[in-house]
Amino acid sequence: MCGIVGIIGEGEVAPLLVKCLSRLEYRGYDSCGLATLNSVGIEIRKDIGPVEVVASRQNLDLAHGSTGIAHTRWATHGGVSRENAHPHFSCDRSFAVVHNGIISNHHILRAQLEELGHHFSSTTDTEVFSHLLEEEWRPGISVEESFVHALRRLEGTFAIAMISAHDPKRIFCAREKSPLTLGIAAGANIVGSDVNAFLSYTRQAVLLDDGEYAVVSKNDFRVKEIATGKSREKQIVQIEWNIEGSEKAGHAHYMEKEIWEQPEVIRRAMEVSQQEIVSLARLIVEAPRKLLIGVGTTYYVALFGQYLLASLAGEFAPALSSDEAANLALPDPDTLLLAISQSGETFDTLQGLRMAKAAGARSAAIVNVPGSSMTREADLVIRQNSGPEICVISTKAAMAQMVLLTRLAIELAYLKGRGREIQAFKIIDELDRLPEIFETMLKDLQQRVRRLALQYKDKRNWFFLGRGIYTPVAYECALKMKEVTYLHAEGMSAGFLKHGTLSLIDPETPSIFLMPPMEEKALYDLTMGSLEEVRARSGPVIAFNPNEERGKFDEELSLPKVSPWVAPLLHLVAGQLMAYETAVALERDVDRPRSLAKSVTVA
Ligand code: AGP
Ligand code: GLU
Repeated sequence: MCGIVGIIGEGEVAPLLVKCLSRLEYRGYDSCGLATLNSVGIEIRKDIGPVEVVASRQNLDLAHGSTGIAHTRWATHGGVSRENAHPHFSCDRSFAVVHNGIISNHHILRAQLEELGHHFSSTTDTEVFSHLLEEEWRPGISVEESFVHALRRLEGTFAIAMISAHDPKRIFCAREKSPLTLGIAAGANIVGSDVNAFLSYTRQAVLLDDGEYAVVSKNDFRVKEIATGKSREKQIVQIEWNIEGSEKAGHAHYMEKEIWEQPEVIRRAMEVSQQEIVSLARLIVEAPRKLLIGVGTTYYVALFGQYLLASLAGEFAPALSSDEAANLALPDPDTLLLAISQSGETFDTLQGLRMAKAAGARSAAIVNVPGSSMTREADLVIRQNSGPEICVISTKAAMAQMVLLTRLAIELAYLKGRGREIQAFKIIDELDRLPEIFETMLKDLQQRVRRLALQYKDKRNWFFLGRGIYTPVAYECALKMKEVTYLHAEGMSAGFLKHGTLSLIDPETPSIFLMPPMEEKALYDLTMGSLEEVRARSGPVIAFNPNEERGKFDEELSLPKVSPWVAPLLHLVAGQLMAYETAVALERDVDRPRSLAKSVTVA
């Protein structure tokens, strides 16, 4: 997925490049590097490892020049090595390139370039571009023209930034299906994969669209179409986003900080205007067919939405994982597609949204990152305003989305005349009180979860089990556990267990049961039934327990008593904490789990 930064300003840009790059680290952290332009040409410093490590090992801060580009990598083509780290040089070292995406015709281009005598230093797809530039450039042809000619030869997806010794006072960048934005500041302009790169320096942004390239100088920028060279008028937009959240604020990890930020994030989700929620509810009611999509965590959020919409509003809106949506969804003009995404850039979900629009469907999105592609492409957008989520593992953003979906389901219930029947006002009251409930609960749970994590950290396999609306929460808790601890965890409907998986239950395999409040008698009894099946096979049982009963489980985490529609959100917090504390006990790299990247902008 990779993070890209480019800065052109006054004085040395390397320290600022490193700072901006570290804001994008959630996009990848296999390796990183930078290239700066100075009196002797282009200087590249790069290595494997996260920004902090490479910055000190390679003295990234000390590179000279007032123009530079930088990159933090999540490898798609070519292993994790110093050679494959970006930036990439042309043979004559007059061009340096950073790239996010996949150049799908790289094999053909590479063969052609090698034939012409180019020597490659890496096994990435990206490097073809720096050699293409060298091939396209000659005296009498401007760097901009060479850049455009080279871009037109690319197939696939790209966000690219480039500097050239032939035109040292400019940065050239382009976007095709991978995100790229410009940050406009006094005396400096910045190129970034997303607004997080530069929000600490400027809130003025220019959002590039697919098929556009930009030529950026210290005090100016011009945007044109790659295909035709025609100029495009672009507006400078003000990004209103709370970035108080960019530091760890006394927490050991961003994951912990973001879990603890959830009370505030819920407040902000409750502040999203009622009118926006009503508009979305109307779209849903009016559409003959509706689909919810997301992927990874946001698929589980969508699934949670499916349960809520069905049970509170009697509305059937199936959730699909967007990585497979293209094979299953077949949207048509009667469809309303609701996409859910923290980043607003996830390739699979964006594709699902685009596919729906191309088929004439209506579209809506619940998104966190302002200015992201989904906020610009969906017909109706709900901005959750959760602030930057830095940890690769999504916690607070998912929580806000679940709260918004609960508000949506309630609004739909009102529209369908069911508000009184479901006692909607009580659920809203409870959502309003939720931040306070969370604050107390987080304090109460911390020590207890820490002890449990220490006790169970060596178990290799885990189950998270729940019924009904607890099922998607169980999936999500298991995903948290896998991502951050590297232990195997499966989330499952507790009812599904007996249809095969029960064979895996043994004394070494803990099952965490997401217990519903006893008032939900049917659901409670069914969950207890599954629990007994596990116990009968000597499986250790840990309960997230909102009830007063004690002693029915090997271990339990007591949760506050709230109404059934709000209770699953408390279970989710317990699952997040369990994953976090287990990862800490196992000494994992919590904010940078191996092999992952937060924003998955490739197919
Ligand atoms: C969450 O913990 C994961 N890192 C991942 O599953 C993520 O939720 C998924 O890639 C979707 O991202 P998005 O919300 O930004 O679209
Ligand atoms: N394909 C490039 C590489 O592997 C960029 C990767 C990405 O954007 O994820 O280096």
